[in-house]
Amino acid sequence: MIARLVLGIETSCDETACSVAGLDALGVPRVLSNVIASQTDLHSEYGGVVPEIASRAHVEALLPVVREALSQAGVGLGMISAVAVGNRPGLIGSLLVGVAGAKALAWALQRPLIGVDHVRAHLYSGLLDGELPAADALPALGLVVSGGHTAMYRVRSWTDIMRLGSTIDDAAGEAFDKVGAMMGLAHPGGPAIDRLARDPAANDRAYALPISRLSPASLDFSFSGLKTAVLYALRGVPGEAARRAVAAGERAAHVELTSEQRRDLAASFQRSVAEALVLKLGRAAGDGSGYRSLLVGGGVSANSRVRTELASFAAQRKLRLVLPPLCYCMDNAAMIAGLGAEQLAEQLAKQLAEKQSAVGCERLALQSSDLALEAHPMSLECPAHGAMP
Ligand code: KG4
Ligand code: ZN
Repeated sequence: MIARLVLGIETSCDETACSVAGLDALGVPRVLSNVIASQTDLHSEYGGVVPEIASRAHVEALLPVVREALSQAGVGLGMISAVAVGNRPGLIGSLLVGVAGAKALAWALQRPLIGVDHVRAHLYSGLLDGELPAADALPALGLVVSGGHTAMYRVRSWTDIMRLGSTIDDAAGEAFDKVGAMMGLAHPGGPAIDRLARDPAANDRAYALPISRLSPASLDFSFSGLKTAVLYALRGVPGEAARRAVAAGERAAHVELTSEQRRDLAASFQRSVAEALVLKLGRAAGDGSGYRSLLVGGGVSANSRVRTELASFAAQRKLRLVLPPLCYCMDNAAMIAGLGAEQLAEQLAKQLAEKQSAVGCERLALQSSDLALEAHPMSLECPAHGAMP
């Protein structure tokens, strides 16, 4: 039984998504629908997301996607207890479309509006439709690896999340996409590189690519050196001969890789990314004490090699690995609706505590009907969820 259903909206980048989800009696987030309208085709000819095109496409897709999410969940708008929306970070024009739509819905329904941080939602995504309530996974070491973010977090509660380190240049997904573009693969490059590297004949040690360590205790990531190494493998190392050729107006030497070499390069690149992530997770976990689980989310968590490396890392460190199923790795609204339901429950509990202290705790039934949650009027800031440090 799901007590309160939350409708979640996600439009931070190039996916227009809507989902209906809520917490079951044990506090496990259950997803009733998860609808995603991807704009990949609209952006592919540009080799990346074009913000103006993305915003306009969100405007067109939002209402049909919301209707479809309600229909797949088998619920009417009247059954929705709150509207959650990814309100940061992201492309500002894209965020505005989802936020405006969510505000209008919340206002029309007279329901609370809950602002959800997109990066926190990725951290939460592995718990969706899982076996344990979010609270049982905490405290956790968190890793978000997406197209826009690569960072580690200490998660004590959904209101107490501390960033431990993050990329100093490209996000891991960005590196995948740029390497994919260098190799002439379709955008986004991540899934295409994964496909090439999954060939059982691929040799992931064929190319000696760097794994960035930074300073000995650093918890930050860097993928720019790795990207340059791939560029040199594809185009040759710039040297005297290349400089002379360019000075003479000729094209620098171009290395033509065979399809086997391309496959090996993809596998070697993927191994370097996965090992870099695990290296920093090892530093962040320290002796492992204090963490019950490893929460991972974001598009790159769909990568086959990354998933294998994370599984063996978590097993060695005796951490429970909470990894989203593939359908919740990339941007989606189920993670927004799920974390929104969590935030709603926390808000209700807080209001109950305040009421209890106001009436001296006497005979206050723990019923949500007592707690007509005040829709924070058109404010997207859930007070308990300030900016991430
Ligand atoms: O989480 P996400 O959908 O969007 C952001 O919040 O950024 O992540 C998108 C990123 C893209 O860079 C894409 O190439 C990458 O996730 N990605 C992958 C795989 N699937 C998606 N990277 C590596 N291997 C994959 N299988
Ligand atoms: Zn994302």
